Amino acid sequence: MGKDKYTIAIDGYSACGKSTLARALARRLGYSYIDTGAMYRAVTLYFQRHGIDPGDDEAIRTAVPHIHIDFRPEDNHVLLNGEDVEHQIRGLAVSQMVSPVATRSEVRRAMVQQQRKMGENGGVILDGRDIGTVVFPDADLKLFVTADQETRTDRRLSELLSAGREVSREEVAENLRERDYIDSHRADSPLRQADDAILLDNTHLGLEELIEHGVELVNRIKKS
Ligand code: DC
Repeated sequence: MGKDKYTIAIDGYSACGKSTLARALARRLGYSYIDTGAMYRAVTLYFQRHGIDPGDDEAIRTAVPHIHIDFRPEDNHVLLNGEDVEHQIRGLAVSQMVSPVATRSEVRRAMVQQQRKMGENGGVILDGRDIGTVVFPDADLKLFVTADQETRTDRRLSELLSAGREVSREEVAENLRERDYIDSHRADSPLRQADDAILLDNTHLGLEELIEHGVELVNRIKKS
């Protein structure tokens, strides 16, 4: 009998629908879901609160051991040293600083170590930028999600507006462009599609279709 607690890696650009897909698939499969972007966002919030410049090596080295990140099992909210910061990490202030913070190797090392620990028993779906390439290069299934820039901007804008944030379409578009550029050009673990990842273009798919497609791909590994 094959194993049934798979490790599933979902990577892709900002606001491409990967976390919606990951969350829905995790629910269907009864797996846990690890939103690794939320972890980098929580680190960024910590840096902002403590006035740490993402370019200050010494300050980062000192700070990183004091940052503990967990997910609350009931609602998957991210906890920064025990505090629920789910709402704070989604605003533009964090979005504008998170990519520079995520270029720092000291930060990445600590996050990757925590992510591997969280996922070590399988039965888990992680989404991010380097899951299939670095965190779990031997994942049982790797998906790389894309959607065109306009679609991604519209989706992120409506998410932010419905959460009551005041933000313009241009601000959102600019933030996505800037993050995609930094995330895919950094030296340490740049965003790229793993050679063995399956590409899912989400531009013209509805949410249900995207989830069905994901479930189909999971069923395929179950049979193989
Ligand atoms: O998934 P997200 O948009 O919430 O991620 C926020 C940022 O965190 C993203 O712009 C880059 C960084 N990130 C990363 O470098 N590696 C990951 N595995 C996940 C996110």
